[in-house]
Order: sequence, then structure tokens, then C-alpha cells
Amino acid sequence: MFLLLGFKGVYAPEHLYGWSRTFFSKSDGETFFVPSAVWKDSGGKVINAHGGGILFYAGRYYWFGEHRPASGFTTEVGVTCYSSKDLYHWTYESVALAVSNKSGNDIEKGCIIERPKVIYNTRTKKFIMWFHLELKGKGYEAARAAVAVSDTPAGPYHFIRSGRINSETYPVNETETIRKTSFNSTLNSTWWTPEWRRAVEQGMFVKRDLQTGQMSRDMTLFVDEDGKAYHIYSSEENLTLQIAELTGDYLGHTGRYIRVAPGGHNEAPAIFKHGGTYWMITSGCTGWEPNEARLFSASSIWGPWKQHSNPCRGRKANVTFGGQSTYVFPVEDKTGVFIFMADKWNPKNLADSRYIWLPICFESDGTPYVEWRSRWNL
Ligand code: GAL
Repeated sequence: MFLLLGFKGVYAPEHLYGWSRTFFSKSDGETFFVPSAVWKDSGGKVINAHGGGILFYAGRYYWFGEHRPASGFTTEVGVTCYSSKDLYHWTYESVALAVSNKSGNDIEKGCIIERPKVIYNTRTKKFIMWFHLELKGKGYEAARAAVAVSDTPAGPYHFIRSGRINSETYPVNETETIRKTSFNSTLNSTWWTPEWRRAVEQGMFVKRDLQTGQMSRDMTLFVDEDGKAYHIYSSEENLTLQIAELTGDYLGHTGRYIRVAPGGHNEAPAIFKHGGTYWMITSGCTGWEPNEARLFSASSIWGPWKQHSNPCRGRKANVTFGGQSTYVFPVEDKTGVFIFMADKWNPKNLADSRYIWLPICFESDGTPYVEWRSRWNL
């Protein structure tokens, strides 16, 4: 170990250290991603940006994520931001969105902020952050989406508002069934019975939440080639995904939304477009425990969405390599190269949850898959 440390940027096999870093530099300057390993920023501190997403702007990547404490599950700091030119080396920028010290504020310290994503609006020249928000002391019952805005990519972001989504509005698919069906007899019945499942699939929770707006927990954002942006979130008690169109300034919802995979219990959506097809990777709902990833595709964002088999391959592919999807992004200047980002949660110490970044590969028919690699580079 002394000898190894004596060399600058030497490649260090994991077993010699007993721990490892998420990127290594070999003596020839080649760098690697090492999924699941400890990943430090350029200042030597462990990167704390979980459930994250990436924004590319003016030649730099910006990584936004949940700052998580070593113990506990609530948000004490806010959303952190790191930046990089090459995706391997990350510089800590700042707390992009800080929790508030004011009692009763939506993002009061002790609330839960999850899965922040940032997009840039070319028309308004603003950076827009959406995230999943749970109010302080209320567990996961608020199920709100929240939005913040900044003039610069790294922030500071100013909190605008939080709430449920598209109140008084039916989804554009399945509207008639939901309008016509009365769910009164099933609404308060026992969960998970066949009748209850059928009612969920038919939109029982959409109707229940019509006035308050739809629930929104695990989420992501997607900006299409035409500049339209979409909010994709686990709704209806985490049983059904919804895809909702954002307004032209990306600060609100237009009222147009669809339900995807009703009753399918999908979380952690990550969406990208390749070869004219929209692809979405999700997880099942098992909290911090990993489960098998799912893959969906559609030729229009408005569906219909078709489910495929598990996109993961190799070691622990049946539990997404021990992780849970959070984002997929294209690598700039490398056409067709996408990176799959996942979190390997450690609920005993959420700050020590690890990052799994892997390349997306494509079958000859265009279907994406993610194969485990213990280290790789672009
Ligand atoms: C997961 C979800 C995470 C977090 C966690 C809390 O299912 O994807 O973002 O909410 O549950 O248990």
C-alpha cells in the first residue's frame, strides 16, 4: 500500500485497499467508473447527491442530488450540486436548494426532499428544479411535487411552491371509464383483494384525488426535442405512474396527463429517447431494498406504453445490481451513448449510499439493456 501510494494516479485494485473509489486513474491517464465504490469529489469528500439527475449546460455537467445525513431519513441540508467536464471528476459547487429554518415552511429543515431534477428552459433562460417533497413530521403522506428556479445552473434555487398535481382534471387516457365508474364500494375496502386491484387499475385513486390533485412521489423530468417538458411520477398510492406535460415555462402543469401501467407498482422512473422511441426504466416498490428493474417503451410520450422484460444483465441483475434507477442521460458529443444512474441505498447510513453508473447498450432491434461491469469507461 505504501508503494502504491507513492505513485501518482496509480491504478489500485480494490482488494489492496479494502475499499475503493468510484473512479481510478491509471498511470497512463485512463480513468474508469467503478460502480458501487466510494466516489469522492475533487476536494476529497464523498459525493453526497442521491436520487440524482444530470443537467448539461455550456460545456459542463451538473449533478444534483439529495444531501443525506449519516443517520436518519429527513433532509437537514437540501439539494447539493457538483459539476464536471468529463463525468469522472466532480467539483462540489454548493447547496443548490437549501432547506428553510422557518417553522411551517414547505421545505422546512426536517422535511423530506427526494429525487431532484433540473432542466433548462431555453425560452425563459431559467433553470428549473422539480423534486418530490414530504412535509416535516408527516412521513410520506403529503406526496407533493415542488418547484424551484434559478438564473444560474448551480443555483441558488428559489423555492416557488409545492402541491399535488392537476386538480379537477381527468387523465387524457381512460377518462370515460373513470368518469362513469363509481368506486364508492371499493374505496374503503380491504387493500389487495382482486376487486380492489381492479378498481385501482380502473382509476379509483385518480377519482378519489380529483379535487386535491394527484399524488406525486418518485419522479423525473424529460425535455423532448421540441422543447416540451414532462414530469413523470409515481402516483395513486405508488400504484400507477403518471406522465404530465409541463407549461411552456416549465413551472407548472398544463392539465394534460396520462396514466401508465395502472396498478403496476412502479417507482424510480428514468426516461430517455433513442431512435425515435421513448424508453423508461423503473423499479418495483420495496422501499430501500433493491428489486428487479422494469423497462417500458412507447413511440409517443402519450403512449401506449408497452412493458418489456428486465433490462439488467449480469451479476445481481435480478435486483438491479443492488441499486434502484434514478436517471438516464446522453453523453454529449457521443451520439447514442447513454449512462444509467442508480442508487445503492444504505438505510443504516444514507450518506454512504453508493452510486451505480453503467452504460446503456442496445440490441440490434434497438431494445436497451444494462450489463454489470465492475469498472468501465467511455
Ligand atoms: C423508495 C424510493 C426512494 C425513497 C424510499 C423511502 O422506494 O424510491 O426514493 O422514497 O423508498 O423508503
